[in-house]
Amino acid sequence: MEHHNGIVEYFKNQGVSVIFLVRRNLLRRMVSVLSNSYDRHAKVLNGTHKSHVHSSEEADTLKSYKPEINPASFLMDLKQMEDTRTKALDYFNNTRHIVLFYEDLIRNRTKLLDVQRFLGVPEMALTSRQVKIHKGPLLEHIKNFDIIRNTLRGTAYETFLGTDY
Ligand SMILES: *[C@@H]1O[C@H](CO)[C@@H](O)[C@H](O)[C@H]1NC(C)=O
Ligand SMILES: *[C@@H]1O[C@H](CO)[C@@H](O)[C@H](O)[C@H]1NC(C)=O
Ligand SMILES: *[C@@H]1O[C@H](CO)[C@@H](O)[C@H](O)[C@H]1NC(C)=O
Repeated sequence: MEHHNGIVEYFKNQGVSVIFLVRRNLLRRMVSVLSNSYDRHAKVLNGTHKSHVHSSEEADTLKSYKPEINPASFLMDLKQMEDTRTKALDYFNNTRHIVLFYEDLIRNRTKLLDVQRFLGVPEMALTSRQVKIHKGPLLEHIKNFDIIRNTLRGTAYETFLGTDY
């Protein structure tokens, strides 16, 4: 984001194709970011920090940590995440790119065909060994969920509470 002009230039000169993987639900993104950041130091899986796991046991261990979200700043943090995402798409809009939503990918594996076509690689049915860590309602993943829910009421971000995947 800091050196976007030079990077866009480089991407164009080198013929780089860009995949933007973005998440609609920024509150869920926040849970992932905070948990990941916690584990960077806590290293709960036998002293190894992992951002992605391949078994439900590992996923359960990682999700046992529930982040507490700062109620005083998180609305601003959400707004900032949103602005950054808009800015990123804007900066790199003139590169050859595709925008992929995490939520669409979770619900519809066929989306991966769009990616393969974009990359010009042979189309295959792709699967992932990754196991999702924060599944189910956010109530189970945020320590101070009640406060966060009340703060979100009536805001543009209220819908983030309801989606469950
Ligand atoms: C952690 O250690 C336990 C016991 O030694 C082992 O069963 C488990 O597979 C290890 N987990 C990881 C993520 O390495
Ligand atoms: C990128 O530019 C195109 C064409 O100018 C426009 O239609 C599109 O909305 C822009 N996308 C973003 C994310 O700015
Ligand atoms: C799934 O994704 C494919 C590829 O983008 C699209 O053609 C199809 O309509 C999607 N299906 C649903 C149910 O959204």
